[in-house]
Amino acid sequence: MESKRKATVSVEGGGSSEFPVYSGSVGPDVIDIRSMLSKLGMFTYDPGFMSTASCNSAITYIDGDAGVLLYRGYPIEQLAVQCDFLEVCYLLLKGELPTAAQKQEFDSMIGHHTMVHEQLARFYTGFRRDAHPMAVMVGVVGALSAFYHDSLDINDPHHREISAFRLLAKVPTITAMSYKYTVGEPFMYPRNELKYVENFLHMMFATPAETYKPNPVLVRALDRILILHADHEQNASTSTVRLAGSSGANPFACISAGIACLWGPAHGGANEAVLDMLLEIGDVSRIGQFLAKVKDKNSNVRLMGFGHRVYKNFDPRAKLMRETCHEVLGELGLENDKLFKLAMELERIALEDEYFVSRKLYPNVDFYSGIVQKAIGIPTSMFTSIFALARTVGWIAQWNEMISDPEQKIGRPRQLYIGPKRRDVVPITQRK
Ligand code: CMC
Repeated sequence: MESKRKATVSVEGGGSSEFPVYSGSVGPDVIDIRSMLSKLGMFTYDPGFMSTASCNSAITYIDGDAGVLLYRGYPIEQLAVQCDFLEVCYLLLKGELPTAAQKQEFDSMIGHHTMVHEQLARFYTGFRRDAHPMAVMVGVVGALSAFYHDSLDINDPHHREISAFRLLAKVPTITAMSYKYTVGEPFMYPRNELKYVENFLHMMFATPAETYKPNPVLVRALDRILILHADHEQNASTSTVRLAGSSGANPFACISAGIACLWGPAHGGANEAVLDMLLEIGDVSRIGQFLAKVKDKNSNVRLMGFGHRVYKNFDPRAKLMRETCHEVLGELGLENDKLFKLAMELERIALEDEYFVSRKLYPNVDFYSGIVQKAIGIPTSMFTSIFALARTVGWIAQWNEMISDPEQKIGRPRQLYIGPKRRDVVPITQRK
């Protein structure tokens, strides 16, 4: 990277030094502080990475103030309307949208990797039937490392590509199996003549006794959920994948680490938490009471599905998901559904409430995606797994980019130590 400008850091009573400033293609410039320790004998302090770029990346760009989300330069609004999920996967992995021939080849290749090793099915029986699907996914996706020894050389681009295709193709199968296991139904093998989303819905909802005929509106809605969640630059789970991968860990182990991070309610668990919250509120008449709890600093209750670390004016994904939400509920005749009406009233009240307006808290994508998934028939406990399914492609693209980056180093943050200074161990008999 070339630096045309310098930033000077001067420390009161501690000298001063210059650091290079780099510009990306869009977005804020960055100050390269890698030499700060050697030049000034200091670290920077930035818990939560509020002002720290942990890497350079050419995959996804977000402008949180303007509500912009670009995958490889393409606005999410265009991708969500003009492309299907596998087209977006191709774009994220390879950097360009596919031609019709490339798309056909890619679809067919992913379609032919959908089955998992029979032995992998045995892992499921080790879990309790009431295990959370994300707990199962963390385990089973990690276990893929034990099955594909032929593609674990992370320095071989061909190995990395095969692992990427396997993950993309097999995660829907593993996700559907984790659902079938919890409801006590037999696993359904993939049917490769079906498209990616149809195949997933078939593995989720068909049984050996009955086929599943997917409604095209619901297929399109789930496809859109996958597109909107496919990547989101250096969020917590993606950073987890990169950090795990920086040690040279294999891709299956890294994606499993990403799934574990995504599970948290402040990240991917939010759509499940939205539904739980709506059920807890229960009735439009109790919205005021619930919002009073949210505003009470001692309550620790948050309005789930509202607010975002990066989007401070609106979440462009939320706009698209809101549209899909209305479409799906219209198609299924659920506009008067109690939960949906409650969600719409909550949205209306919160958007006018001074507490949320002054803090720039707007509905995020998860406020609506849970409602859509519920309407499709996906149980609440599966919502975060669907997010993991969608995000797998983003994680792989980011992991692959990191491994290919000549500047890549093992991730090793520093700290501001505030514990005891050196002291001697007192023999146990003399301790008070
Ligand atoms: N409900 C009530 N108050 C909130 C909320 C909320 N959902 N989010 C933030 N605040 C308040 C917070 O209490 C603080 O108020 P004050 O300044 O008076 O102390 C102020 O807004 C700033 O909050 P913050 O915690 O500094 O904001 P953050 O950027 O660190 O948090 C967030 C972002 C997403 C963790 C948070 O907004 C949140 O917990 N939202 C609910 C969970 C959720 O919906 N998460 C899904 C995010 S979208 C999916 C994804 O991309 O992963």
